[in-house]
Amino acid sequence: MSNAYLIIGATGGIGQAVCRALAESGARLVLCGRNEARMMPLQVQLGDDNQLLVADINSAEGRSRILDTLREEGIDKVINLAGVNQFTTFAKQSDAEIEALIQTNLTAVLCLNRLLVAHFLQQGHGLIVNTGSALGQIGLPGYATYSATKFAVRGFCEALSRELADSAVAVKYFSPRATATAINSDAVNAMNSELGNKTDSPERVASELLAFLQKSASSYQVGWPEKLFTRLNGAFPGLVSRQLKQQLPVINKYLKSEVS
Ligand SMILES: NC(=O)c1ccc[n+]([C@@H]2O[C@H](COP(=O)([O-])OP(=O)(O)OC[C@H]3O[C@@H](n4cnc5c(N)ncnc54)[C@H](OP(=O)(O)O)[C@@H]3O)[C@@H](O)[C@H]2O)c1
Repeated sequence: MSNAYLIIGATGGIGQAVCRALAESGARLVLCGRNEARMMPLQVQLGDDNQLLVADINSAEGRSRILDTLREEGIDKVINLAGVNQFTTFAKQSDAEIEALIQTNLTAVLCLNRLLVAHFLQQGHGLIVNTGSALGQIGLPGYATYSATKFAVRGFCEALSRELADSAVAVKYFSPRATATAINSDAVNAMNSELGNKTDSPERVASELLAFLQKSASSYQVGWPEKLFTRLNGAFPGLVSRQLKQQLPVINKYLKSEVS
């Protein structure tokens, strides 16, 4: 495999940190996002040998452009950090908002992976990292649709990595916890701080992702309390529900402030 990566969501908080860390490690990058102007400062920082690719993973045309670039550049490693979130009371979410979250976080991921896996199987090797969330392991109030998409991505990666176990094509699932990026609103940040939920720097998440790339494991979750909480949620979901019910007044306070 060449030391080159195509990073989708390169303009994001985690995406930029991952691009910087990979570039520092000597990797060549294709920075992929929907907005060229937003990607250009990062390219200037990282150097001209790193390319830009404007592509929207929600369009078949954008996904084909990603595949064409991989072929042209001989790249066999893709990290998909694109994602959208909405912190809201579920009953208040519109059909359009639900569909938009499912489209970017799930449907586009599956359609993109299908293209990439077919290509990687044909060439005999390749790596795809898909990004989930701690909320893909534990369902939290205010995140019903987002959690649904991330639970689904986790199940998808688990099934697909097992389907490909006898090939040299790897599909990995990377699961950050709360991270200080623009995806989280001021209300979410204030709520996390009041509830004592740890928020990572994007640089820490990037360094854990780079370490994960070196391992043979097919999934990785950032943060020890979250790993423990996930196991607790699996074994004793009623216990976790009771604890979350105690936090509900605080969560509801921030859900209300998010709406107004
Ligand atoms: N931050 C957290 O607390 C946290 C926690 C757990 C998991 N995650 C997950 O980590 C990933 C990165 O999140 P982040 O915190 O870095 O968020 P962010 O700063 O909001 O970045 C989101 C990225 O997704 C890209 N994107 C969105 N829709 C796209 C589309 N249709 N096609 C191509 N790119 C698209 C955006 O690119 P544009 O420039 O084109 O808008 C941007 O680069 C997401 O999957 C998120 O769900 C984040």
